[in-house]
Amino acid sequence: MTPRKIIIDTDPGQDDAAAIMLALASPEVDVLGITAVAGNVPLALTSRNARMITEICGRADIKVFAGADKPLRRNLVTAEHVHGKTGLDGVEPFEPGRPLEPGHAADFIIETLRAEPAGSVTLCALGPLTNIATVFEKSPDVVRLIKEIVLMGGGFFEGGNITPSAEFNIYVDPEAADVVFQSGVPITMMPLDVTHKVLTTRARVDRLRANGNRASMAMADMLEFFERYDEQKYGTDGGPLHDPTVIAWLLDPAMFTGRKCNVEIETGSELTLGATVIDWWKVTKRPENAFVAREVDADRFFDLLIERLGRL
Ligand code: BDR
Ligand code: CA
Repeated sequence: MTPRKIIIDTDPGQDDAAAIMLALASPEVDVLGITAVAGNVPLALTSRNARMITEICGRADIKVFAGADKPLRRNLVTAEHVHGKTGLDGVEPFEPGRPLEPGHAADFIIETLRAEPAGSVTLCALGPLTNIATVFEKSPDVVRLIKEIVLMGGGFFEGGNITPSAEFNIYVDPEAADVVFQSGVPITMMPLDVTHKVLTTRARVDRLRANGNRASMAMADMLEFFERYDEQKYGTDGGPLHDPTVIAWLLDPAMFTGRKCNVEIETGSELTLGATVIDWWKVTKRPENAFVAREVDADRFFDLLIERLGRL
């Protein structure tokens, strides 16, 4: 089987780290590069954190590019209250051996889409969609070259996590999300409705740690920090592990169910800015523009994650 070519666009973030690790551990996907965007923490940290993760995985061969340092038309909102001041609190920060690649993340995405066969590259978006919207605005010709965008973002039945109606990634750059959802590229969306069903319970984190390798133990340390905020907020054993659902979808889509819907992004209202209005019940005739996941087999998800991270 030829591995599926992916670019990971990300704002690490402990759950982004879990997604990157899952991808790097999985032969079904070929990570062509990682592009960092400002989100959970500012760009200087997300672009360093992405390189820390590749190094922890023993994969410093992976190229990391820095992209947008702020949303298209707004000031940056960050989430240190969830991720800690480094974005990867739980592990000791270090300066990675491999520097950032020269050039902007958007240019790397554009050049890669042009160099690879049309329809062969999937974009995995784990943060605000600023880099991807920048690609679309700068080089509209590459839009048709993308196989698919699989993204973590939005929420409908669960509501929001940064405001009552908006999920963080979409809220930070709603104009960018709007560009992406209007682009016509096939989209698979992992909203809070599905990510809130994969909880980092004590038993699961213990199993991960028991793998005993550097990546698994670092991930367990990060998760122990990361889950504290959400455990208190939601009153659950463990917190949602959002971003790895994107990679799990590529590896084992049968663990998810959902449906194709129309999804529109609220960019005007102050009250509901960044809301993803999902026409789940097809009450409009608006065109279906995304496959929206809603259910996941959480045990199957963690079995996959824990087994794969043990390979690193
Ligand atoms: C999303 O926001 C970030 O805090 C996480 O990394 C995830 O991508 C969840 O709302
Ligand atoms: Ca993220």
